[in-house]
Amino acid sequence: MPASAAVRILLDHYRANARTLPWRSPPGQAPMDPYKVWLSEVMLQQTTVSTVTPRFTRFVERWPTVEALAAAADEEILGEWAGLGYYARARNLIACARTVVARESFPTSETELRTLPGVGDYTAAAIAAIAFGRDSTPIDTNVERVVARLKGLTDKAAVRAAAIALTPAGQAGDFAQALMDLGATLCRPKNPDCPACPLRADCTGYLRGRPEAYPAPKMKKDRPHRHGIAFWYQQDDALFLVRRPDKGMLGGMAALPGDDWAGDSPPPVEALTTVSHGFTHFTLDLHVVRASGSPNDEGWWHDLDRIGQAGLPTLFAKAVAQVRAKERS
Ligand code: ADE
Repeated sequence: MPASAAVRILLDHYRANARTLPWRSPPGQAPMDPYKVWLSEVMLQQTTVSTVTPRFTRFVERWPTVEALAAAADEEILGEWAGLGYYARARNLIACARTVVARESFPTSETELRTLPGVGDYTAAAIAAIAFGRDSTPIDTNVERVVARLKGLTDKAAVRAAAIALTPAGQAGDFAQALMDLGATLCRPKNPDCPACPLRADCTGYLRGRPEAYPAPKMKKDRPHRHGIAFWYQQDDALFLVRRPDKGMLGGMAALPGDDWAGDSPPPVEALTTVSHGFTHFTLDLHVVRASGSPNDEGWWHDLDRIGQAGLPTLFAKAVAQVRAKERS
């Protein structure tokens, strides 16, 4: 199908304004290494571009190829992932790298890509379009919002069909990234910058005067609130850490020892500090309690001066920072 006028305008705008990102080749040029496209898409699944950018660069400096990543120890990779959240992604990343190396290359079609660990519909379509030039249409929340407004649609299935229909043959990678950039810069969820948008003359949402009404806002569920305990065992300048079980929240990550966070009210303890943290499905108050004696769990003593290299996820990094700030004050 020939590209519609709106798509041509969008692609022209992208050629002139594409964000320079370390996992992206400039518009119209040969695609980037699939390893980098895959890694960036997995990192970007639930994390913002500004957070991902320096972390992506560090990651590919340390492991420049999928072979190098597949050969690395799990703890090293999980440690490098620390702070990016959603640690199941890191475990799938490891499994995926090893699968790709075992089969000797990344598959190139959306259908085969979807069989890889941690690669769902969106990521498979993104890799197929961006790394392999396939006519696939990745639909994330940015793409969904831009297309919903452009076409004045409120339901997901209609937006998906419209996005697929708009995808220009042979330019699906640039098209997807053009929509992502527009969604991130001008066609923002709140206060879209319609006067600066190259698509406004074609945009149903704008022409109807209510771009923010598309897509229909979804109701947010209230998250339950939980309480947990973490134990602070310190000997001289060393802090006792454990590795969390592979399955479950923060699986496989370094951590303070503690309970299973099942409390529905604050525990009757005197805490050194309490860390408030939001996970996707619940919020947590983690009460950090000084413990004495020898820990029962299996773990290791980590030098507090090098705690930044322990690979602690954000929840526990916050706990350590709060306790140390308190001790200094
Ligand atoms: N978000 C998800 N994938 C992206 C990409 N390839 N470029 C910019 N933002 C993105």
